[in-house]
Amino acid sequence: MKQSDYLKVLKLAKRTLEESQNWGEDELYKAPVKNISLPVQPQATELKNNNKLSVEELKNKVLNCKDCALGKTRLNAVFGEGSSSAEIMFVGEGPGFDEDHQGRPFIGKAGQFLTNLIELMGYSRDSVYIANIVKCHPMKDPSNPELRGNDRPPTDLEVSECSKYLEAQIAAINPKVIITLGKPSARYFLKTDMAMGAIRGQFRDYNGIKLMPTYHPSYLIRNGCVFGKKDQGQEVTKLKKEVWTDLKKVMDYLKTGKI
Ligand code: SF4
Ligand code: URA
Repeated sequence: MKQSDYLKVLKLAKRTLEESQNWGEDELYKAPVKNISLPVQPQATELKNNNKLSVEELKNKVLNCKDCALGKTRLNAVFGEGSSSAEIMFVGEGPGFDEDHQGRPFIGKAGQFLTNLIELMGYSRDSVYIANIVKCHPMKDPSNPELRGNDRPPTDLEVSECSKYLEAQIAAINPKVIITLGKPSARYFLKTDMAMGAIRGQFRDYNGIKLMPTYHPSYLIRNGCVFGKKDQGQEVTKLKKEVWTDLKKVMDYLKTGKI
């Protein structure tokens, strides 16, 4: 391992230890050693993973897709990113302003929050896979992609047009666990309108893959959850504990193979 990799691991471990005390955990979670935040080596992945080509082909299709109305107004299609041999796949609802501008998933405020959560779990962002149910930015006012706060959830029609790509991504990556973030994503997989509070935290089966629904990072941010600071109020502490409980279930499953 390179010296810079060691430093990266140490830095993450220190942050995890400090932060875990704020997330209902009194000792550092012992993630499986092989998953501790080592950057994925692109070459090794390419050699190991014979799905690589199909993920790339799929990406090209998405970048050129105009199958639904979102394709006409997006600035950039957002395919998804991460390790093509990831054990965990996070699925959000759709690109927002920042993602539309940069063509990458979860890179705005919610994305930073998600990255922190991933690292708190003992993984690095590039060792998991991050995608959305739709690949182009759903906007309240589609004529104005330069307006912040113009995001909306995708419609059922947009989801049904785009889901072929998500399904192909899942088939190519074949994760052990899918973590759905927020209601539109849980709703797509579970075909339910139940509130997040009622469906989060319980493992489901999705075509043989374990699926764990939890809250969307934007919802957590809106409700006062922060990293690196003391919680303001019991509701925040409760919410953080809930998310952490959900994520720990995933970590335990990946460690032991049991739920
Ligand atoms: Fe194509 Fe999906 Fe974008 Fe619609 S949202 S244009 S189906 S990639
Ligand atoms: N919210 C999402 O659901 N997905 C993103 O990529 C960014 C924000």
